[in-house]
Amino acid sequence: VTKPLKVAVAGLGTVGAGVLKLLRRNAGHLAARCGREIVVTAVSARDRNRDRGLDLSGIEWFDDAAAMASRADAGVVVELIGGSDGVAHDLVRESFRVGRHVITANKALLAEHGAPLAAAAEEAGVALAYEAAVAGGIPIVKALREGLAANEVNSLYGILNGTSNYILTEMRESRRDFADVLADAQAAGYAEADPSFDVDGVDAAHKLAILTSLAFGTKTDFGSVLVEGIRNISLQDIDFAEELGYRIKLLAIARRTPHGIEQRVHPTMVNREAAIARVEGVTNAVMVDAVPVSATVYQGAGAGEGPTASAVVADILDIAAGRRLPTFGVPAAQLVDLTPADMDQHAGAYYVRLTVRDQPGVIADVSAALRDENVSLESMLQRGRSPDAAVPVVLTTHDTVEAAMKKALARIASLDTVLEPPCMIRIEE
Ligand code: NDP
Ligand code: HSE
Repeated sequence: VTKPLKVAVAGLGTVGAGVLKLLRRNAGHLAARCGREIVVTAVSARDRNRDRGLDLSGIEWFDDAAAMASRADAGVVVELIGGSDGVAHDLVRESFRVGRHVITANKALLAEHGAPLAAAAEEAGVALAYEAAVAGGIPIVKALREGLAANEVNSLYGILNGTSNYILTEMRESRRDFADVLADAQAAGYAEADPSFDVDGVDAAHKLAILTSLAFGTKTDFGSVLVEGIRNISLQDIDFAEELGYRIKLLAIARRTPHGIEQRVHPTMVNREAAIARVEGVTNAVMVDAVPVSATVYQGAGAGEGPTASAVVADILDIAAGRRLPTFGVPAAQLVDLTPADMDQHAGAYYVRLTVRDQPGVIADVSAALRDENVSLESMLQRGRSPDAAVPVVLTTHDTVEAAMKKALARIASLDTVLEPPCMIRIEE
């Protein structure tokens, strides 16, 4: 009879509690899947007295998570605390030191320290598994590392942050304001401990950095991701997008270019009829374009207790069954440095919303700034007439080089008649 797999869980919040519940609820089915029982022998969290709706009797409690890594009676340590450094990092390092497998949902940790941690796991002869770190319940790590292993990936893009997609969807559908909807996402357990990571694009950028490594065999390079969030997207932009036939999504995009690998996260206007425009609420989606398979699509719940626990437990099953692959699909020593593409050379179309003083000559000045930088206008909209008051003017461009767009916008922003910083959103067809 194969011995049970003993598991120590650090962090009993949304995800940690979800993992314990799922392991209990599906114990029989899980044992059948991996050929052995899975037993949680130790847990750690900050507050021992907090009611988590869980029966923790018979499970050893540790106040110190890193001490649990070395002292618990367990072969696997599951890190569900969060944060790129501090206790989560210490816990993972300590687990490797004492030869325990690690499972984590911590994208910040992997985006910042992916390659060295992968090397440390290999050196220790243990697994570093992280299916839950990207796109919640969608098995995108497995898809890239295993299902698509025979392919060369050209590009991938998707919606990788459930909270911000939920906010954009709710703002559009229920016309509630940003702060109100964010509070809902927090209550539902979707948001990060610091929700600015969600709304400022950082969380999606963490996940993109991980997918880039899996897709292109490069070391995680979070520092080279262009990161813009949704904080400045207004209901006005959402309405103008609809009027122009677009929908605004926080897209994460990684692709090979002749100059290197482009990694970017930013609000994007996508065609309202495109499949990605219909990915709503907390749902995530990833589209991968690879040779020879061509396009494949992955979609599902991107955050929350159940979907994330599903991914963590899948990793536990792999370890229980003895299935283990290099962290990013190739041995850590074969991961190459990423050559980042220069975003200034990026070419695409742009949406710009200006708040201008309604007076003669404004549009001529804006048009002149665009003309001087060779930016070709596709459309311009002005709503209402309110002499000398602030009015919105919206324009879209034909394909333009980003450096030229930036120069034109800097000049437009400096005009006396332009009353607020321009809001620029990239358009992807
Ligand atoms: P929570 O804030 O709900 O839970 C964090 C847990 O960590 C809490 O139980 C907390 O203890 C515990 N903790 C904090 N500091 C320490 C410490 N020093 N020592 C021991 N335990 C500590 O976070 P989530 O469950 O939402 O997220 C956990 C991880 O999963 C993060 O990396 C997150 O990015 C990731 N993730 C989250 C998803 C989600 O939908 N929520 C989805 C995918 C990934 P206490 O309860 O006592 O305060
Ligand atoms: N805060 C994250 C999100 C959790 O909203 O997508 C899932 O990683």
